[in-house]
Amino acid sequence: MNSADFTDDSFVSKMDSYLKSHLSPSRYSHSVSTANTCRTLASKFGCDPKRAFFTGLVHDIAREYSKEELVEWASKDGMPIRELDLHSPVLLHGRAGAMVLKNQFGIEDLDVLAALQAHTTGTSGMKTLAKILFVADYIEPERKHITPEFLSSLEGLDLDGMVYAVLMGTLNHLASKGKGVDPYALELKKELEHAE
Ligand SMILES: [Fe+2]
Ligand SMILES: [Fe+2]
Repeated sequence: MNSADFTDDSFVSKMDSYLKSHLSPSRYSHSVSTANTCRTLASKFGCDPKRAFFTGLVHDIAREYSKEELVEWASKDGMPIRELDLHSPVLLHGRAGAMVLKNQFGIEDLDVLAALQAHTTGTSGMKTLAKILFVADYIEPERKHITPEFLSSLEGLDLDGMVYAVLMGTLNHLASKGKGVDPYALELKKELEHAE
C-alpha cells in the first residue's frame, strides 16, 4: 500500500497527527470541521468521500507559513507569483500547501492538489472536488459568520449554485470592507454566470 494513500486510514491518521502538532488549535479544529463538511458534500454530489475528507483535512497545511515560506513553496508549481501575491502572501497558502503535500508527503492526486491550489480565491475550471472544498471551507460549522439564513439559502442548490452563493458572500464581504477582489475570483464568477 502506498504510504501517501488517502484511502489508507493509517496514512490519514498520520497526516492528522502532523496537522495537530503543526497548526494552531483553532486552525486544526477548522481543518477537521472542513474535512467533515467535505465528506458530507461529497456524498451529496457524487464524489469520493475519503478523498474529500482528506482534502479538507489538509487544505490549510501551509496557512500559518511565513511570507518567505509561502513564496518559496508556491513558486515550486511553476506558475507566476503576482504582485498581488507579494502584497498579500496569504493568497499563496493554497498553492504552497499543494506543493508541500506533493513534495513533502508524496501526494500525487492531481484533483487533490488542484483543490488546494484553488481554495483560497476560487478560480475558473474547478473540478467537483475543488468546488466541494471551496464551499466546505466557507460553511463548516465552526465558521461563526455563517447565519442559519445563509445555510438555508443553500438548500436545494446544486454544487455550482452553492459555489456561486459562497463566492458572492465573499465578494460582498470584501466590498463592505473596501477591499479589492482577486482576478481569479472574478474568473470564477464570470464562468458560473455564463454557465447559468
Ligand atoms: Fe485556506
Ligand atoms: Fe480553511
